[in-house]
Amino acid sequence: MALPSQVSPPQVALSDVPPTGVVGADVVAVPVVPDGEEITLGPGAAELLDELDVDFFALLEHAECTGKSGEIVEHVVLNRAGLSNPNLTSVLLVGIGQGTSRDLRRAGAALARRTKGRNSLATSVASLADDAGLRAFVEGLVLGSFGFHRRSAGATEVPVGRVVLAGIADADSRQDVLSRALAVAGAGWMARMLALVPANEKNPAWMAERAQEIAKDSGLKVKVWDEQALARDGFGAIIGVGRASATPPRLIRLDYTPARTSRKTAHVVLVGKGITFDTGGLSIKPAEGMMTMKRDMTGGGVVMAVMGALASVGCPVRVTGLVVAAENAISGNSLRPGDVLRHYGGRTSEVTNTDAEGRLVLADAMAYAVAEIKPDVLVDVATLTGAMKVTLGQRTAGIFANDDGLADLLDVAGAAAGEPLWRMPLVEDYEDRLESKIADADNAGGGPGAITAALFLQHFAGDVPWAHLDIASVGDSPVESFEWTAGATGFGARALLHWLERNDPLAGVNGRP
Ligand code: BES
Ligand code: MN
Ligand code: ZN
Repeated sequence: MALPSQVSPPQVALSDVPPTGVVGADVVAVPVVPDGEEITLGPGAAELLDELDVDFFALLEHAECTGKSGEIVEHVVLNRAGLSNPNLTSVLLVGIGQGTSRDLRRAGAALARRTKGRNSLATSVASLADDAGLRAFVEGLVLGSFGFHRRSAGATEVPVGRVVLAGIADADSRQDVLSRALAVAGAGWMARMLALVPANEKNPAWMAERAQEIAKDSGLKVKVWDEQALARDGFGAIIGVGRASATPPRLIRLDYTPARTSRKTAHVVLVGKGITFDTGGLSIKPAEGMMTMKRDMTGGGVVMAVMGALASVGCPVRVTGLVVAAENAISGNSLRPGDVLRHYGGRTSEVTNTDAEGRLVLADAMAYAVAEIKPDVLVDVATLTGAMKVTLGQRTAGIFANDDGLADLLDVAGAAAGEPLWRMPLVEDYEDRLESKIADADNAGGGPGAITAALFLQHFAGDVPWAHLDIASVGDSPVESFEWTAGATGFGARALLHWLERNDPLAGVNGRP
């Protein structure tokens, strides 16, 4: 990629050899499991400590290990003479709690943070894990390593270079589990990276170039509408929202076709909000409110990252990704409060607040999808409303859906991926807030803000089973927390991939079996 995060994720490999036998690692990490009042060590750990001449019980007493997930106690190896691995400098005792996927994800992330700057790590922390646990551990390990910078002197911290997951029974046959984990974690990494690129580098054309690279790397079809094509094809809201910017809008379409298809192969469309900077327009945001608005393209970045990983996770359905890229800027040519925009397909919106731009551009892409692609399922992802943050805080995203089966599938996928989604209601009684005196709808009908925004979008879903992920609440993490690094989270990439990698991503949707 032309402008990388300048920090790369660690290389990860599986091995059935216990960590003692992995020659060369400079750090070894073993699991600590709480067992009533006591704690126990995972397989192979006692032998390792024996070889190091470490009195395990003295170490535990001294260090007060509890085995809580994510806890790490370090034993520095002082005397390396006579060791089978002369490079070994420390042994980490890593708490894995009850060993659930969530525990292992947290253990992986904690281990990633503790091993930054080291050359290589051999760890048996995931040796007892089932496939879901192994995946969670790897996803935590990779995402906990995430870094991004634009410093002239280089990164202040770099992830551990190489990780061997040791003591994995059936290592060969579980290679597929590892590749899926790496594909999903890589998508999360890419979504974070795209969100963190500053808006002086990242404009709609830049987004389109990244999409073209992803398409080339992953064998996707790609099509980009420039401003002339958008105007010609009737994308009135994308043109309206993007028209004040020195960098005009783009609509990006990526198409994935699975290796095997039949006439019955279902088609999913993902739509991402790609506002590369949101000033609010003439309804301008206060300075603090603008601080994180380079990340207002997070939904678009998530869709691009997901599209790039579909082949690697073996997604069995057709997927089209639509990313609406525009900058909500200010100039003499700005969209004005009171202007009326004509969406793709003809529906009109009165713009009573130019800062409610996300729903305007998403609506064009959704209308296009419903009319031209006629998908079996439509899902949009957007940093849509500040109200979502007030409602759910910064750990859970909101999901709205007109189909219970689809909502359930995404709920399950989000939980498995560590990206929790909370179902929000499409309250019919609030429909009247969308009424406009002169157009089909008002773009800023007032509170409850997240719900009225979702109701606005629902009109563009037609009768297609549709879900809307409002990720404004979770697009940013205020602190370092488990696999979340402070700043952009790339939230949604993991949840969508955990859904689309299923054998049956449409099971239960719209009355299907
Ligand atoms: N991009 C913002 C939403 C947002 C806010 C994302 C905070 C991340 C953090 C969106 O375009 C917006 O400005 N929404 C307005 C809508 C209002 C004017 C109806 C909002 O939520 O205040
Ligand atoms: Mn806005
Ligand atoms: Zn916005």
